[in-house]
Amino acid sequence: MIQQQLLTVCYLIGSITFILGLKMLSNPASARKGNLVAAAGMTIAIFGTIFLYKDVESGEHLHNYLWIFCGLSIGGIIGTLAAKKVQMTAMPEMVSLFNGMGGACAALISLVEFNHLSKELALNPNPDFIYFIQPKVLIIVVGLIIGSVSFAGSMIAWGKLNGKVKDFSFKGQNILNLMMLAFAIGTAAYLVTNPHHSILLYVILALSLLYGIFFVMPIGGADMPVVISLLNSFTGVAAACGGFLYDNKVMLTGGILVGAAGTLLTILMCKAMNRSLKNVLIGSFGGNATASGGGASIEGHHKEISLSDAAMVMSYATKVMIVPGYGLAVAQAQHACHELEKILTEKGVEVKYAIHPVAGRMPGHMNVLLAEADVSYDNLLEMEQANDEFPTTDVVLILGANDVVNPAAKTDPTSPIYGMPILDVELAKTVIVNKRSMKPGYAGIENELFFKPKTSMLFGDAKKVLQDLCSEIKNL
Ligand code: TAP
Repeated sequence: MIQQQLLTVCYLIGSITFILGLKMLSNPASARKGNLVAAAGMTIAIFGTIFLYKDVESGEHLHNYLWIFCGLSIGGIIGTLAAKKVQMTAMPEMVSLFNGMGGACAALISLVEFNHLSKELALNPNPDFIYFIQPKVLIIVVGLIIGSVSFAGSMIAWGKLNGKVKDFSFKGQNILNLMMLAFAIGTAAYLVTNPHHSILLYVILALSLLYGIFFVMPIGGADMPVVISLLNSFTGVAAACGGFLYDNKVMLTGGILVGAAGTLLTILMCKAMNRSLKNVLIGSFGGNATASGGGASIEGHHKEISLSDAAMVMSYATKVMIVPGYGLAVAQAQHACHELEKILTEKGVEVKYAIHPVAGRMPGHMNVLLAEADVSYDNLLEMEQANDEFPTTDVVLILGANDVVNPAAKTDPTSPIYGMPILDVELAKTVIVNKRSMKPGYAGIENELFFKPKTSMLFGDAKKVLQDLCSEIKNL
């Protein structure tokens, strides 16, 4: 009895820490701590289950400790090494892989639990027992479908992000996808009413896996973070089904939190990129689609600025706003960027960073990158705050950002990014853009900002340009 109460306390601590951790993750300053708090809660919940859980019917504790601790050790070691080794730019890839494992776990739970039920059903093949187990079968098939879709979809996303799987689509794919999903749901409904047809469980499994593959296959590589976030929410729901099955409150809370957070993040990302969730769900958008999308072609000339002139303009400014983008991450220029900030600050220049919500290729990409270089959170401005400050800014230095500063989002209704909120850098006195060429960014469209009279281009790799700028300013 006392053990049962202790276990409930462990689960309560787990649930509270998940909520606290999630809340802390919403702020870059507390995110690291939030992650640790939630992980500590999860550890308490796991060890509570291993040592305190008792089966209600048999009254037995868990006994297969060798298997449990082997699994925990192997998973723990692989997870730690992978997290330590991963490059910032490969983060979506790793999230996808780990998310897929969560989906696979949920699907396996469904398979194992159905197997248990089948054995019980063979001993009690009467209508009363069938009626009794139907809610459980319903949860099992829901967990199986969602978990398998999440697993297969995440594996494809992982393969696409690391370049091993190529985009693939054919005419009528969306219809085939919907048919597969409808067939899987129909078969699941039949199995709930006729649970003795256990072979159907494997038909549902196969259909769900196929659906997961075909659902993610046509989506362009750079759009994958949105899909990963959606698949993440699927895994959460599948885990919550496991919580229902085992009557395990902490699993239920964790699953619901992941499901809700993933859904909210998907919606936020879609809004920030001006895409509809419907497009995400039918898998008809993608980097390729946007690249060939509309957008007026721009005629005109761009002007260039030399390193020494750029250094001069910035060191005599009162306020400089840095706009980081995907190119900064590619160049791994975050440390050089912080160095420039320090040098300018020593010269009495106020330096801040304008962070667009979808700058880079994953949520919070710029925040994490700059945090890695010890840039103070106080200097990071969110888009709305930055837009308020641009009119009082002397120099905007854009580092490998393109779409998030493209005025076409406001002025050109034919542009694929029309409607996406952008950083109003044009409101500043001078704009310096660092990139390697005049090539477009992720959306595949030209940027009229580069041709404006107040804009100057500073070509080169972001890291090299920043290092050279630092030397120039030091020598002034
Ligand atoms: P982009 O529009 O992709 O522009 C990045 C620019 O960086 C490119 O134009 C490229 O120009 C330049 N670049 C690349 N390597 C560089 C290097 N080594 N040094 C200097 N510049 C370099 O990036 P953004 O402005 O950050 O916008 C992000 C885009 O990704 C948005 O369209 C967004 O919707 C999309 N997206 C974001 C997310 C999230 S959640 N962040 C998720 C999915 C998609 P050059 O080739 O000429 O150098």
